Amino acid sequence: MSFTLPELGFAYDALEPHIDAKTMEIHHTKHHQAYIDNLNKAIEGNDMEGKTIEEVCKTGSDKTAVRNNGGGHFNHSLFWKILTPGGSKEPVGNVKAAIETMGGYDKFKTDFTEAAKTRFGSGWAWLCKKDDGSVAICSTPNQDNPLMPVAECHGTPLLGLDVWEHAYYLNYQNKRPDYVINFFDLINWDQVEENFNK
Ligand SMILES: [Fe+2]
Repeated sequence: MSFTLPELGFAYDALEPHIDAKTMEIHHTKHHQAYIDNLNKAIEGNDMEGKTIEEVCKTGSDKTAVRNNGGGHFNHSLFWKILTPGGSKEPVGNVKAAIETMGGYDKFKTDFTEAAKTRFGSGWAWLCKKDDGSVAICSTPNQDNPLMPVAECHGTPLLGLDVWEHAYYLNYQNKRPDYVINFFDLINWDQVEENFNK
């Protein structure tokens, strides 16, 4: 059984003007598809085959092709789900309570923006759930994620922001901070809450 490209759940132009339709289409059908194709090649016929993408990230990241492409598939699949033109625009429920203990929604935005802005080169910014139920913000390079033992930070990703230039360059060019600010209008906090409660 091989991995396949998940549906977005909304039209490519649904996030405009914050993320343009062309960027979404290329990002989904070319970049994400390429990670999936390369992941399927990397796991074919070995002990990774048949595992969930979470298990692949947790147990296969010592192999470079699995790390890069398994991360690419997990990270983008999560990203599409937590992006939405609808849903709650601010934290709700248990994840809201966890963010309150971290200093509140405004502090979350400040710290998350800093993590996304200061990630040198390509990578991701994350809100993660730790084993004790608290939440934390961090970032990882390339397609690493906090499920991977090799990653710079650990936990269960609740939401992630892609800060590779392929995610924003057509609309924002070098202005990554503007892309990050607009991202806060696109987060589906109902989905983040669902991720927190899993
Ligand atoms: Fe991406």
